[in-house]
Amino acid sequence: MTDLHAQYISEETVVPTVRGDAITGERYYSKKWMDAEWENVFTKVWHIGGMLYDLEEPGDWISHNIGPDSVLMIMQDDRSVKAFYNACIHRGNRLVWSDMGGGERITCSYHAWQFGKDGTLLHAQDAENFDGGNPCGKAKLTEISCDIWGGFVWFNMDEDTKSLREWLGPLDEILSSYQMDGMVRVLNVSSVVPCNWKIIRDNFNESYHLPTLHPELATFIDDDYKDSVFQTFNDCGHNRMIMKGCQPSMRLDIPNSMQAPLDDMLKNWNLNPADFEGRSREARVAIQKAMREQGAERGYPAFDTMTDSQLTDYHHCTLWPNISFTMSSDGFQVLRSEPHPKDPEQCIFDHWFIMPKVEGRTEVETPLGVVDFAPADKETIIYGEKSLGYVADQDMSVVTGQQIGLHSRGYKGGMLTKQERRVQYFHELLNDACDIHD
Ligand code: FES
Ligand SMILES: [Fe+2]
Repeated sequence: MTDLHAQYISEETVVPTVRGDAITGERYYSKKWMDAEWENVFTKVWHIGGMLYDLEEPGDWISHNIGPDSVLMIMQDDRSVKAFYNACIHRGNRLVWSDMGGGERITCSYHAWQFGKDGTLLHAQDAENFDGGNPCGKAKLTEISCDIWGGFVWFNMDEDTKSLREWLGPLDEILSSYQMDGMVRVLNVSSVVPCNWKIIRDNFNESYHLPTLHPELATFIDDDYKDSVFQTFNDCGHNRMIMKGCQPSMRLDIPNSMQAPLDDMLKNWNLNPADFEGRSREARVAIQKAMREQGAERGYPAFDTMTDSQLTDYHHCTLWPNISFTMSSDGFQVLRSEPHPKDPEQCIFDHWFIMPKVEGRTEVETPLGVVDFAPADKETIIYGEKSLGYVADQDMSVVTGQQIGLHSRGYKGGMLTKQERRVQYFHELLNDACDIHD
């Protein structure tokens, strides 16, 4: 098995060609950009609608509101899933308002039209009173593309979309080794955050901020850009960053000293931290070896399909344009920012933590502390009033200042380091997709 999935790494993808377009401030606050992104980007890509396991039987549904629209995904009799716009075809009333539900029919709250699982209109008041005859059995909710991958239900509003797997490109195979199907979302928090959705994307498209916003991570994540892989997948707009884990950063004053939590990481795999005192940067490979040896008996069958790097390192994959998966060997975080329905200076930020089933697992450590190992109910948090996760809070702490500063006449379109190339690349893709080049 090739470490770091080297077969996907080439010079052109690690250092993509960029034009050097200005990253204009206007894109973060204008309605013009917000509308262009909705028409040319968000209505053209695949989105996560929710967890597949929330659909237990035919008729069960989940919904997801995105930007100004909303989508309803319903399990069919053959257990496949269909997606529809969550809008009544009579006069547009939104059909469902909660995240999930179920039943044989969906009934509109306005004139009580009823729709079956497959979207067909089954009942309309005064059905004979239509030009063209009774529409029941003929009219349908507006259906859009829907697919299943990685334990999620996905939808796409584009009538001419590629298949989900084609759209995922190399990430389909790269992520398959984690065996995401069947994992459990143990953390599910969401908040309206006072910044444009791209401010969050930019932050997750670089690791330049780790030493400043997350200095405590340096004892077990090597944040040295020279030791990381940054990569864009040019055909599909996705990208990834691989940062070595279980390895202290060379930025530390004494990088080879043993500091928490690396000592606990070693103990967790029955290794003695004292053996690595003065050479703690060797812990990573030792832990990989121990994980290989002990993984199966400890209940982690997916270790067999992971590369050595995937066992210890953080593979942070960003799906174009707005979802990041931060993969680790014992679960992954989903960090998503979606446009606000109306205001370009706000967005919806979702933070999920999704973990594999391991025999005997009853409680787990998440970015928000210890929780029961069970599907988490969604918690909507008022920004600033409660934590969205310790590290995520650090990321979110700068967004207001950046949102304000991007309005300044003194901001001239950015000046990026080479290691932030993915940020530049992202904005050039966006310029091209929206056909805005000013
Ligand atoms: S808008 Fe739904 S039944 Fe009239
Ligand atoms: Fe961060």
